[in-house]
Amino acid sequence: MSSPPRIAVLASGRGSNLAALLAARERGELSGDFVLVGSDKASAGALRIAEAANIPTLALDPRSYPDRRAFDLDLFARLADSGAELLVLAGYMRILDAQALTPWIGRMINIHPSLLPKYRGLHTHRRALEAGDSEHGASVHFVTAELDGGPLVLQSRVPILPGDTEEGLAARVQATEHIIYPKVIGMMADGRLAWDEGRVRLDGKILDTPMESE
Ligand code: GAR
Repeated sequence: MSSPPRIAVLASGRGSNLAALLAARERGELSGDFVLVGSDKASAGALRIAEAANIPTLALDPRSYPDRRAFDLDLFARLADSGAELLVLAGYMRILDAQALTPWIGRMINIHPSLLPKYRGLHTHRRALEAGDSEHGASVHFVTAELDGGPLVLQSRVPILPGDTEEGLAARVQATEHIIYPKVIGMMADGRLAWDEGRVRLDGKILDTPMESE
């Protein structure tokens, strides 16, 4: 990876995590050259945030492809063409094809709104509330072919309060996402954090359990 690395971001939604990453870069807390922001939704707020920051954007419509693999292979080819070395999923809501993502294993990071391995997939806040959990949170992990199943790097914990709603809990979890994601991407950009044969290496040591945000 170059120093600073070339970073591409994939996002399907509002883009608040992308905005947090760009704000961290502005503050000098994250080194990295954002070369492309891609989306499966032309209307994604994340694309507008990228445009405002003068970052090239790419919107591809999955409906124009015969199947998931064809879409993902084209998407990943374009990401490679952008020169990206590190791929950051920031609210990218599509399941990735295992074959297409393989070349990016170790260089692709995701943030997920739950304390993984709990609640992979969708509706994580609702599921945590329905289960009567006392805490919830967010996890940053390396992406592998297993959905929300790659090695964990850093987690934030949020207490679940009496009378909590899905929206209220989601907002509190997201506020922590905006802290932990720039932190992890910053550590990767600085070469402190890396994939090491399926495990996470931080400052030269294998991380056996995920870090927790203070
Ligand atoms: C974030 O809360 C992120 O954790 C979640 O989507 C949201 C995107 O928000 N990601 C997933 O659920 C991935 N499985 P944003 O567009 O405002 O960054």
